Amino acid sequence: MYTSNQILEKVNQALASLPYERRPQALYDPVRYVLSLGGKRIRPVLMLMAYNLWHDDVDRIMMPALGLETYHNYTLLHDDLMDRADVRRGHPTVHRKWNENTAILSGDSMLVLAYQRVAQCDAALLSQVMALFTETALEIGEGQQYDMDFETRNDVSESEYIEMIRLKTSVLLACALRMGAMLAGAPETDADALYDFGEQVGLAFQLQDDYLDVYGDFQVFGKRIGGDILCNKKTYMLINAQLHADDRQRAELEHWLSATDYDEDAKIQAVTRLYNEIGIPRMARQKIEHYYQLAEQSLAKVSLPEERKRPLWQYAQEMLNRQN
Ligand code: IPE
Ligand code: IPE
Ligand code: MG
Ligand code: MG
Ligand code: MG
Repeated sequence: MYTSNQILEKVNQALASLPYERRPQALYDPVRYVLSLGGKRIRPVLMLMAYNLWHDDVDRIMMPALGLETYHNYTLLHDDLMDRADVRRGHPTVHRKWNENTAILSGDSMLVLAYQRVAQCDAALLSQVMALFTETALEIGEGQQYDMDFETRNDVSESEYIEMIRLKTSVLLACALRMGAMLAGAPETDADALYDFGEQVGLAFQLQDDYLDVYGDFQVFGKRIGGDILCNKKTYMLINAQLHADDRQRAELEHWLSATDYDEDAKIQAVTRLYNEIGIPRMARQKIEHYYQLAEQSLAKVSLPEERKRPLWQYAQEMLNRQN
């Protein structure tokens, strides 16, 4: 059995050795650029770790695992355009380094490359794998649409938010785990339990991402701190700030949410101060902890000895403590 670090090492090596022989370079350079900037590689690592619960020859499923990472990076390329984000992984985003059309077209090609790579799986399981991947990809688009719709709505409930992040983020982590289990020929009930585990870890993961978007360190997080505040993203934090604010705080929040001509840093500072006053950081941490407890229960349902599952649980714990 491999440690998560050994698997990460394998993923990074495999990604670095992917050939880029197609032309024009203007189309593929941004693809290579995004995939070479690092990133935590969580999806392929989860997929290989799930497979590794049953089998040791993880290299056999490396290409579809890279397909999931390619797919994830494609979503980031378009997400940064939609979220007006200038920096990712500490580097300029594709639409800033090149331009918006490049981000659209290189992103599109990346989605196609993702399909091509995922399809390089065990032929006997191809239709099952493709059905899972396609359903997941459709759900992610749905989540991203809700995310954007919510920017201009002011009555988003916590349960709508949770469903939105389940779609835009959790289902890909869950899909990675299920795909690993599927390709390992694992029992259906175990694949289901791993899917649930991935969904719950994914919810905690996106809550953590939203938290770090306010409280992270730019040097480590690699994305602009306060970006979600500037976009009026309806995060767990903003929704609960509106819910638990007193009259003065609510009026101040409303002011910043509806302001059109403002100093960006002033808005970020004011909303962050309101979050602090209202006690949002502690609430967010508790919610993250809640989903980790659910995740632990789901993993317990996988019918393997505890020690076999320990690396996966440890990896999930590391994700909980991540700062980037
Ligand atoms: C960023 O994903 C988008 C979210 C779903 C929060 P990651 O935090 O996994 O990004 P990288 O790939 O490590 O950069
Ligand atoms: C991203 O959510 C989810 C997807 C890319 C599908 P975010 O918009 O919060 O991700 P970051 O913070 O830009 O990485
Ligand atoms: Mg987004
Ligand atoms: Mg974004
Ligand atoms: Mg974010």
